[in-house]
Amino acid sequence: MTAGPWLVLGAGALGQLFAARLATTNDTGSIALLGRHGALNQVRLQETDGNWQTRTLAYPTMAPALVIVATKAFDAEQALKQAQLAPGTPLLLLQNGFSVQPRLSTHWPGPVLCAATTEAAYRQPPPATGVVHAAAGHTWLGDLAATHGALAETVAATLTRAGLAASACDDIGERLWHKLAVNAVINPLTARHRVHNGALAAPPFSAEVEELCAEIAQLMAAAQISPPTEGWRGWVSAVIEATAGNRSSMLQDVLAGRPTERDAILAPLLALADTHALAVPRLRACYHATPG
Ligand code: PAF
Repeated sequence: MTAGPWLVLGAGALGQLFAARLATTNDTGSIALLGRHGALNQVRLQETDGNWQTRTLAYPTMAPALVIVATKAFDAEQALKQAQLAPGTPLLLLQNGFSVQPRLSTHWPGPVLCAATTEAAYRQPPPATGVVHAAAGHTWLGDLAATHGALAETVAATLTRAGLAASACDDIGERLWHKLAVNAVINPLTARHRVHNGALAAPPFSAEVEELCAEIAQLMAAAQISPPTEGWRGWVSAVIEATAGNRSSMLQDVLAGRPTERDAILAPLLALADTHALAVPRLRACYHATPG
């Protein structure tokens, strides 16, 4: 079913990274990349060993066997509409947050795998055009109803062979919430204060991290979403430390004058707060202080 060809929708840093790495394997037959301005026939990627490689991509066909949706969360549904895919085409969603995943899982007439990835990549600032694979991570994937385990295993094996370590899992919903918690703390704070992730480990910003984590812990407990093994605060601190040198994706968006993923990341937490009648003044203030 996923023998090929595959299509990556969205030519941001993650989309280019996934397309370039998948172009190194024969598993997918061919891999195409469709961005906002049309198909890209090659990607220049700096690998984690520091070497630059140019990968040639295929021209998109109308009937890919799998589509990796690598757009920003707010662009995903429109990009799918424009791609005019055959009904039932399997999707793999790479979006941050928890907004487009439940919607497409309900409405898309085919299997919808969701991914929580820790791969780190960024686009070189113009006039350069390459993408830097800043840190190798891990991609967990599965569908929210845990009914497409075999597909998730196949896709994870293909990604792993392409040098993007991946595993299938049956608790992707929980993993998406864990990633969302990290993004809800790191992204708005780094974007507002214009600092690298590592700055959040120390005063004055560590106090804000503490307060946001406390509200998130309260919300997740009410929604019965299990904490990561390190606890919410420990988990967020570990990611801050592991990505200390990164500019968060939201800071990059703000600096480039692009729309941010505020609604995909913070709005689901505010909705949980409303459902459980909990006051979350810090998260609410964060939402209002973040450009949409
Ligand atoms: O959105 C991001 O930037 C990343 O998900 C993370 C983990 C916060 C690291 O920068």
